[in-house]
Amino acid sequence: MSRDSAFVEEQAAFYAAAHSLQPTAVQRELIAETAKLGRVAGMQIGPLQGAFMTVLTATLRPRLAVEVGTFTGYSALCVASALEPGARLICCDVSEEWTSIARRYWDRAGVAERIDLRIGPALDTLRALPSEPRIDLAFIDADKSSYPDYYEAIFGRLSPGGVILVDNVLRGGTVADLEHDDEATEAMRAFNDHVAADSRASSVMLPIGDGLTMISRRQ
Ligand SMILES: C[S@@+](CC[C@H](N)C(=O)[O-])C[C@H]1O[C@@H](n2cnc3c(N)ncnc32)[C@H](O)[C@@H]1O
Repeated sequence: MSRDSAFVEEQAAFYAAAHSLQPTAVQRELIAETAKLGRVAGMQIGPLQGAFMTVLTATLRPRLAVEVGTFTGYSALCVASALEPGARLICCDVSEEWTSIARRYWDRAGVAERIDLRIGPALDTLRALPSEPRIDLAFIDADKSSYPDYYEAIFGRLSPGGVILVDNVLRGGTVADLEHDDEATEAMRAFNDHVAADSRASSVMLPIGDGLTMISRRQ
């Protein structure tokens, strides 16, 4: 089992993962195949975050979920596996190559029919979505510089009480360390400040994975 909470002491992180929903056999095989891709495999969310997203989906019971940044499809598989009949997940990515792996595992897990994969720049896909049905759950996990645009595009289409999850908000802890003043870190700080001050929303930043903010649109 991999450790996927860099901000939690190692023993406690393993304990938390061991006492959470475990990846299915198909999910474990997807994690193993993705690992063979090398360094890029680090883009995949960890099993603890996967368990969190599965449980959250089962709790919120979204009719429409959206993912920005699909890669080889593990986070999408976690969400799709908990969707109720008739609910769907729109996945946005630019990579035919990585999402071809995703498609294979979605098929094997029997969730392919719930997922609508849109290849192309995610902002174009989001802006082209009709105003109805509203989005009930969204996960943002793509190019970090576009986070403010993804957040606003999704927020405008979010149902009251709808939830947005945003990944990598702690950027390895650099956002909290004033010695880091590079452009990417400053951009993430500005985004995090914007979310925390957004009067339309209630949010909580969780030290899971590389930092995950959960934002709920006020009713
Ligand atoms: C961090 S990975 C997503 C990981 C995935 N959520 C998982 O847990 O396996 C980011 C993905 O965003 C995609 N991406 C980058 N820029 C994008 C853009 N402008 N529009 C859509 N997808 C983009 C990349 O192709 C990559 O697959």
